[in-house]
Amino acid sequence: MIAPHGSDELNPLYVADDARRAELMEEAQELPSIIISSGAASSAVMLGSGYFNPLTGYMNISEAISVAENMTTTDGLFWPVPIMNIAKADQLATTVRNASRVALRDPNVNDNPVLAIMDVAEIEILSDAQKGSLIEHTFRTTDPEHPGVAAFNDMGNQVISGQIQVLNHSYFKSDFVDTFRTAAEIREDFAERRWNKVVAFQTRNPMHRAHEELCRIAQKAVGADGILIHMLLGKLKPGDIPAQVRDASIRKMVELYFPENTVSVTGYGFDMLYAGPREALLHAIFRQNCGCTDLIVGRDHAGVGDYYGPFDAQTIFDEIPENALEIKIFRGDHTVWCNKCGEIVMMRDCPHGPEDYLFLSGTKVREMLAAGEMLPEEFSRPEVAEILMQYYQEEEGA
Ligand code: ADX
Repeated sequence: MIAPHGSDELNPLYVADDARRAELMEEAQELPSIIISSGAASSAVMLGSGYFNPLTGYMNISEAISVAENMTTTDGLFWPVPIMNIAKADQLATTVRNASRVALRDPNVNDNPVLAIMDVAEIEILSDAQKGSLIEHTFRTTDPEHPGVAAFNDMGNQVISGQIQVLNHSYFKSDFVDTFRTAAEIREDFAERRWNKVVAFQTRNPMHRAHEELCRIAQKAVGADGILIHMLLGKLKPGDIPAQVRDASIRKMVELYFPENTVSVTGYGFDMLYAGPREALLHAIFRQNCGCTDLIVGRDHAGVGDYYGPFDAQTIFDEIPENALEIKIFRGDHTVWCNKCGEIVMMRDCPHGPEDYLFLSGTKVREMLAAGEMLPEEFSRPEVAEILMQYYQEEEGA
């Protein structure tokens, strides 16, 4: 199987030994603690579940700047996005400031249970200039309206860095019993299925026919034994569809339209950054960590609004050192229903033009479904549209 990123073996930071974990949990109750940001909590879950292998914790400022500017850690590891634990000054009690070991509490679960224990290496203050630079490099914009920039801006300026031991997988494990999987679990599943070559499909949306076909085209093109549909289960911007609804609609599509045992539907616990190209690189790293050989990067991958060119998330892979990653990218062109071909096509493979294509904006799709109007069968599988319609109608009624 393909090696994890940056090490021979996967080293998830979750403490798997039950007795040791219970001991640490007991210790944590006595430690000074902080309720961390949702972004930092989701990073802890990614670190705990092996997706962020070989990182061992949160970066300090110089590490984060090195990553933002050069896409490498100070040790020379290829890494495209700063992984940080940033808090506001008033969140840090004196006991925390003086402690060498602190408990990190989960902001997303009732009563803020301990998520991880951290060996605090440093608490530094991020200057406005440094923060601006981290944001600009990561998001290619400092526009406060960008949802990823807004989340970063909101975190404060106290950078708490150091190694962590992760004690649970937050709400992802309990709320998504059938879907949340760690990188190691996914590797085990591939081994059981005897899949050597696996193409991953990243998604934060329900899957319409264009997405479904993109998976089939990619699987055929790279000769994959299977497809990993790997959905984001963490926080999204308002208006995006909740993970439960996406999960149900994707599972329905796979059940009805893919041959048995060719697709694995799973998810990971990370908040969406909307960082386009840089996030695509991070996506590639954590798909390599879960044993995928290929990742589909289509149109406007991990993008939002008009911040990124439609294929910026593909071309960034031309700008990184050749040996930075082992996983390969399948570059998907804009995929759409063509009336003349009578099927879903990738525009680069089709001689026809925009007048023959069926375009439906996200807003239009939402309006139609909320009004109880069925989507055209060329655009969406009816069984998928029904699940989405039910969700939007409940939303409308709420
Ligand atoms: S993402 O933020 O997770 O990338 P989304 O779930 O919408 O958003 O997209 C999942 C994957 O499908 C990404 O690789 C994206 O580039 C690709 N994609 C979505 N729609 C299309 C399309 N019409 N044509 C080509 N690729 C697409």
